[in-house]
Amino acid sequence: MASLAATSMRSHWCGELRAAHAGTEVRLGGWVHRRRDLGGIVFVDLRDREGLVQVAIGPGWSPPQTMAGTGALTAEAAILVRGVVERRPAGQANAEMATGEVEVHATEVTIVGPTVTPAIPVGRVRGEALAAEESRLRYRYLDLRRPELYGNFELRHRLLQRTRRELSDRGFLEVETPILTKPTPEGARDFIVPSRVYPGQFYALPQSPQLYKQLLMISGFDRYFQLARCFRDEDQRADRQLEFTQIDLECSFVGPEDIYAVTEAVLVALWQEAGATVEAPFPRMAYRDAMARFGTDKPDLRFDLEIRDLTARIGEGSGEFLRAAVARGERVRALVIPGGAVLSRKDLDALADDAKTMRASGLVWAKHVAEGLTGPGAKALGAEALASLDLAPGDLVLACAGRDGVALPALGRVRLEVIRRLKLEPKRAHAFVWIEQFPLFDRDLETGELTFMHHPFTAPHPDDVALLATNPEAARSLHYDPVYNGVELGSGSIRITDPALQSLVFARLGLSAEEAEHRFGFLLEALRTGAPPHGGIALGFDRIAMLLTGGDSLRDVIAFPKTAAARALFEGAPTGVRQEDLDVLRLKVTV
Ligand code: AMO
Repeated sequence: MASLAATSMRSHWCGELRAAHAGTEVRLGGWVHRRRDLGGIVFVDLRDREGLVQVAIGPGWSPPQTMAGTGALTAEAAILVRGVVERRPAGQANAEMATGEVEVHATEVTIVGPTVTPAIPVGRVRGEALAAEESRLRYRYLDLRRPELYGNFELRHRLLQRTRRELSDRGFLEVETPILTKPTPEGARDFIVPSRVYPGQFYALPQSPQLYKQLLMISGFDRYFQLARCFRDEDQRADRQLEFTQIDLECSFVGPEDIYAVTEAVLVALWQEAGATVEAPFPRMAYRDAMARFGTDKPDLRFDLEIRDLTARIGEGSGEFLRAAVARGERVRALVIPGGAVLSRKDLDALADDAKTMRASGLVWAKHVAEGLTGPGAKALGAEALASLDLAPGDLVLACAGRDGVALPALGRVRLEVIRRLKLEPKRAHAFVWIEQFPLFDRDLETGELTFMHHPFTAPHPDDVALLATNPEAARSLHYDPVYNGVELGSGSIRITDPALQSLVFARLGLSAEEAEHRFGFLLEALRTGAPPHGGIALGFDRIAMLLTGGDSLRDVIAFPKTAAARALFEGAPTGVRQEDLDVLRLKVTV
């Protein structure tokens, strides 16, 4: 902690006082964290953002009017204290407080911000539960007084500054791109803003600065970055907010390796800023392998459990339904979980339900116990399949039959649930991995149409360009995602710079030439004016801050977040608007 740059009211931070300050006259400002009246002496734990210090108000050193006013020092009142730092008497130091060797003998106490009883407690007694999240979001300004929460924002600040420094030192230029813009295709719904000047027309808030950063490369800016605010109207989850911040960057004359290197440098620096040592380069894994081995494109590689393919071992000795599945062209995959035999029937049923939520028809299980193999899977899988798994006593087998698109994600989900239920020890604390060679296109499950996997500007893998004409779904792309402990930290790609190829991709996505021109004409036009090869990445900054503070919700690292129901509880948004404002915009509300 840096010492306070003194102001007219204060000389020190509460949290900075140590034994070396003994004898110093100080002026402090802060909030009454806790107050204890020990008959004669009143102790106030005074809190500012840098910590707590004990202030003692007693007859030996405090004037009578200060003594008389102690009754008004209610929890969370803002006060100014003038006093002298003293070592605490022998045996009374508090080892749990950074300032625990000293206390401030108050000579003057002024209540500058009296308070009503706070709606939620701030200075909790140890072990006391937090108020309900709804109340904490409603009274966010009080919740943010909690030292733990403040600590998250102090780290967030350092991470932002470190990002700026690392990128700026590598020649990246920070450029701010518009907030009022045109829809950006990132796969979510846009927030739209009506134009007053052009009634009936709308701006969109950016889902990302994707197109602008590409245009900056065409402008020759060479290396761009931005701590970019992005807006996406999508369902809220613990790791998704309507508005969030990306570390967004783009470089010219680069291939994937160059983006991997700069991303790794930034991530290693950010982990270091939070006190963790991690090593680069990160391992890499093709999307196909990630799906086949872990059932997800964001594998949590702190754990070794891998999915196995038993299809070739399903035969005469196996159950009818598995043989029928294989005959239909499906595959049979399984997880072997050492020690998993301790899971109860209830656990196994819950795991089967997890698989079903991923559209799988179910799970079959077998346990290797003292008496041998038990469970429906012992028969259904058959001796040959089971022998190929080299089971040891205590092992659990969970198998699922289905098409790859169903059985693999189902087992991926089951894998995570098993890890959670068994509280398995991670093999390593930090598991970074690059997932690469993603498919260029995806199939929309509802419409059956070809859609983009990430956004339509991703370059196809150079070996697969011909597939765009013959079998677009098989084409891989130059897209990459850094993943950490099962969390997608970011996404990026090398971009299409050939306007003809970009038009072909738009066509494959079902856009007519007119529509492509209408939506992305400015990009196609720019691509015809000497576009350098370029690529980049966007890292989810809030997610990184959440992981590095050890939090499990983005709300812990966003100062004024939205609730899971997409509301801002403190300021009360969204809200209706006045009729005259709607009239100016020529809008009519029909609900
Ligand atoms: P993408 O859409 O994958 O890529 O976003 C990049 C990263 O941003 C974070 N993120 C979010 N964080 C919080 N709340 C959300 N709703 C949310 N949505 C995304 C994630 C994600 O990995 N323009 C491309 C990047 C590029 O190609 O350079 C893009 O935005 O951590």
